[in-house]
Amino acid sequence: MAKDSEKKTCGQVMDEWKEFFWNPRTHEFLGRTASSWGLILLFYLIFYIFLAGMFTLTMYVMLLTLDDYHPTYQDRLATPGMMIQPKGKSLEIIYSIQDTESWDMYVQNLNSFLDPYNESLQVLSNKECPPDVYFTQEDSGEIRNNPKRSCRFNRTQLKDCSGLEDRFYGYNVGRPCVLIKLNRVIGMFPGKDNASPYVSCAVKKENTDLIRKLDYYPTDATFNLMYFPYYGKKAQVNYSQPLVAVKFQNITFNADVNVECKINGNSFANPTSERDKFAGRVSFKLRINSKE
Ligand SMILES: *[C@@H]1O[C@H](CO)[C@@H](O)[C@H](O)[C@H]1NC(C)=O
Ligand SMILES: *[C@@H]1O[C@H](CO)[C@@H](O)[C@H](O)[C@H]1NC(C)=O
Ligand SMILES: *[C@@H]1O[C@H](CO)[C@@H](O)[C@H](O)[C@H]1NC(C)=O
Ligand SMILES: *[C@@H]1O[C@H](CO)[C@@H](O)[C@H](O)[C@H]1NC(C)=O
Repeated sequence: MAKDSEKKTCGQVMDEWKEFFWNPRTHEFLGRTASSWGLILLFYLIFYIFLAGMFTLTMYVMLLTLDDYHPTYQDRLATPGMMIQPKGKSLEIIYSIQDTESWDMYVQNLNSFLDPYNESLQVLSNKECPPDVYFTQEDSGEIRNNPKRSCRFNRTQLKDCSGLEDRFYGYNVGRPCVLIKLNRVIGMFPGKDNASPYVSCAVKKENTDLIRKLDYYPTDATFNLMYFPYYGKKAQVNYSQPLVAVKFQNITFNADVNVECKINGNSFANPTSERDKFAGRVSFKLRINSKE
């Protein structure tokens, strides 16, 4: 019956716990005296202050090495990506000529995209640059040459696709305009041998007869060298990306036409790897339905 004698009554257990919580004889709280608790708290206080200090110091040192004007790390593709306008959720332009509602959004999209290219705004904010040469504005050593100017892009250069001569950009007659732009890459010098890179579009894979006649604006389909290099949003506040407009003059109606536009005349190596599949090119689906 040894076990029974070891069993404590409920009251005894409570008393032991009470004593552990506060022992009036030894003045111990949870088994430690006030000075012992004080030392422990002091230790943790100093420990956490030290940790916070370490964190602040490393953060500060790291921020010192960052530069507001240049990304420290830039995952540079050999050739930059391209994008089209108008662009919806997907790279598709599908509409019916007779259904105004189906193409009105493309016209609105182009209107708002081209607003900053208005002549009056460009004259106000950007400089008339000599064409066909890079517009470099290097910093001289530590002295920053900021803010940097940007070159004017005339909306009128887009002619039939400027929305000025034809306010529906040809969508109402089944000869739509699509704008092509090159993604911004800081410090990129595109082109080769002092010639500007140019855009060309073609039907992907299928029968090339689907597109027939294409017009480009500017007529040489180039992104002029004077719009490069780009120095970043902070240094070049008024930068206007150069555009090339493609007008589909005689496309086949009621058929899916998969178009691919790509950039040519770059000194960069032609992208071949899987990773660079979208570099220097953009593909989109164009389908124009017509009841006639
Ligand atoms: C640009 O010009 C168009 C047509 O001239 C006008 O409707 C539009 O309001 C202008 N946009 C800006 C931002 O000035
Ligand atoms: C940017 O444009 C504004 C007017 O829109 C102009 O006052 C300013 O000087 C321009 N800045 C640069 C760096 O070109
Ligand atoms: C822009 O248009 C003006 C006249 O409207 C012209 O003098 C200038 O050369 C044009 N600039 C470009 C880059 O086409
Ligand atoms: C469009 O292409 C068709 C088929 O090749 C041709 O018969 C027609 O003349 C072309 N129309 C124009 C305006 O170029």
